[in-house]
Amino acid sequence: MSSPADDAARRAGAILTIDLGAIAANWRGLRDAGRAGGRPVDCAAVLKADAYGTGLAVVGPRLAVEGCRQFFVAHIDEAIELRRVLPEHPIYVLNGLLAGTESDFVEHGLTPVLNHLGQLNAWRAAAQRFNRPLDAVIHLDTGMNRLGFGPEDAQALVNERGRLRGLRLALFMSHLVASEEPANPINGEQLSRFRSFVKAMPGAPASLANSSGIFLGPDYHFDLMRPGAALYGINPLPGQANPMLPTVTLQARILQVRRVDALQTVGYGGAWRAARPTRVATIGLGYADGYFRALVNHSTVYIAEQPAPVIGRISMDLVTIDVTEVAEAHSQPGDLVEVLGAHLSPDDLADRARTNGYEIMTALGRRYHRVYVEGRGDAAGEEA
Ligand SMILES: Cc1ncc(COP(=O)(O)O)c(C=O)c1O
Repeated sequence: MSSPADDAARRAGAILTIDLGAIAANWRGLRDAGRAGGRPVDCAAVLKADAYGTGLAVVGPRLAVEGCRQFFVAHIDEAIELRRVLPEHPIYVLNGLLAGTESDFVEHGLTPVLNHLGQLNAWRAAAQRFNRPLDAVIHLDTGMNRLGFGPEDAQALVNERGRLRGLRLALFMSHLVASEEPANPINGEQLSRFRSFVKAMPGAPASLANSSGIFLGPDYHFDLMRPGAALYGINPLPGQANPMLPTVTLQARILQVRRVDALQTVGYGGAWRAARPTRVATIGLGYADGYFRALVNHSTVYIAEQPAPVIGRISMDLVTIDVTEVAEAHSQPGDLVEVLGAHLSPDDLADRARTNGYEIMTALGRRYHRVYVEGRGDAAGEEA
């Protein structure tokens, strides 16, 4: 008798396999990179956007088992979802405190990242109403000009620490603008602004580094590192060998195979025309699953080690590929082709779609049949 998982896999147009062991190994590698500076540095995990597409409710608890103690998400609803599976750990909400959500934060034991004085005042008022100190993160904007206390608000805090009365400071944090460009002078400028602030405001741990920031060296590590992308295998060192383990494999199913004569077109708009008699396979994913339309005539999938070019426009639920060079035995309806995996990483696919690995990962389709494995929790990650 087949299991429900087997049945679901059989029904699926595409199967996404997520390697929790590899994600855990990547976290250990980053944590150890922090320890290399000789000071105790903690390593959090950023789980926003459904853990970059890999599944927050599964990845969060797995990383907690690994020893991760602090978690960041963007939205309060993400935090509430994570709280259901992580009842004890601090969960920080990066997008801040929206008006009227104070009691949601308190009810679920969540910590807002306070991004300006207005949010700080609202959170202090909540502390008074609930008659107890509430945890808070202060986010200093050191150059992004996006979220966080700007220079004037920050100076107001330094001048008058009493503005924090009633709150328990969990963290001071800032976020780097261009950490993946080690030579960019903005890194050093942000570092020095953050250092001055932390020096003027002692009494709470500090956090600056995202994934690439960790690789800028120990000066950037402070007390807590906040990697997201690198946990999931995105290269934190663009242009260099990726020190992280890959974490996702995506396979799509061949739905139909046909022969197309020379000069016939394939797909919407006739965007691809056969130069020779061609075997065309249609596979079961499309732009509704995060396989971007920008990949028209511009990517490759792999079948039994053999590349098969993507031809024609990407449809909502379908992609067409040229399997003329692939053995017929390996390219029959029902067979699976590799869309992401050993031959093509999310970063590689991103290059072809003219985007970055973050966008590929966070767009990973909700319709994929998902399989979690513990494949690569080996020592390889320790090298990260
Ligand atoms: C404030 C903040 N910290 C940390 C991260 C994690 O960054 P990365 O995914 O580059 O490691 C992000 C993600 O964009 C972020 O917005």
